[in-house]
Amino acid sequence: MDLGLKNKNAAITGASQGIGEAVAHALANEGSNVAICARNKERLDQTVSELKAKGVKAVGVIADLSSEEGCQLFIEEAIKELGSLQILVNNVGGMIPGTLANMGEDTWARAINVNLMAAVYTTKHAAEHLKNNDWARILNVTGFSGTQLLPGALSTTIPNAGLIGFNKLMANELGSSNITVNNICPGMINTESWGPRGEAMAKVRNTTSEELRKGFASQTMLGRWAEPSEVGDLAAFMVSERNSYMTGTTVEICGGITKYIS
Ligand SMILES: NC(=O)c1ccc[n+]([C@@H]2O[C@H](COP(=O)([O-])OP(=O)(O)OC[C@H]3O[C@@H](n4cnc5c(N)ncnc54)[C@H](OP(=O)(O)O)[C@@H]3O)[C@@H](O)[C@H]2O)c1
Repeated sequence: MDLGLKNKNAAITGASQGIGEAVAHALANEGSNVAICARNKERLDQTVSELKAKGVKAVGVIADLSSEEGCQLFIEEAIKELGSLQILVNNVGGMIPGTLANMGEDTWARAINVNLMAAVYTTKHAAEHLKNNDWARILNVTGFSGTQLLPGALSTTIPNAGLIGFNKLMANELGSSNITVNNICPGMINTESWGPRGEAMAKVRNTTSEELRKGFASQTMLGRWAEPSEVGDLAAFMVSERNSYMTGTTVEICGGITKYIS
């Protein structure tokens, strides 16, 4: 199926590694030009050169999306370099291990700013540009801690639930401009960042990271974690021209770790 993504311009937040990187590769594979951002230059440059090797335009912007200023900078640079914008993927974020007792103001500010407000601010600064097209797409990346109980996931549950609400509001607000706004909700995805995160979580749960990983795998119906490219492929369809009548939805890609029926 031709997804209709050739020569479209996409901005993907937090995409030098992990799911964001996989989304950037999936879009580049379909012929989209991509702008990505991260704080660490070395890793960003490496990913940009791998994307360029696919024959598309790829731009890396060093930006810290924990502030509105950083979000605005990324969107402005992306549009300056690519010329226009049809697709925004709000991916940046991640779990910060912590408990109610030991998470202080700084940790909470980081968790809320990066996991929730970054999507709000990039959408704010991208919306008028996205409206300059026949159609455009916004895809938010949350996580299943926003839809079902994941004990201990304080730093993502609260922003993810907020982002799912924001997703619905934006779908309603931008629908008349033929901009669809959807949310994908990954489960256990085998990204590099799970190395240190798994170690920290295992310590709190008094187990090993290997046992922790096996435990999560056994909670899924497929009995395994996913590779980031599996999420990238779904994201490419979600933001494609072919996916034209889906908006305001949350689509899970979690191997069946969630068990509710409705
Ligand atoms: N992996 C999973 O199992 C999983 C499950 C459910 C949901 N998710 C969600 O999927 C998204 C991606 O997760 P991931 O595991 O792929 O993350 P990851 O591997 O930790 O990658 C995060 C990316 O974002 C960048 N980044 C982090 N903080 C940033 C900031 N303040 N400003 C700009 N860039 C920043 C990182 O580069 P720098 O560090 O250089 O900035 C990196 O490129 C997140 O929203 C996460 O909540 C992941």
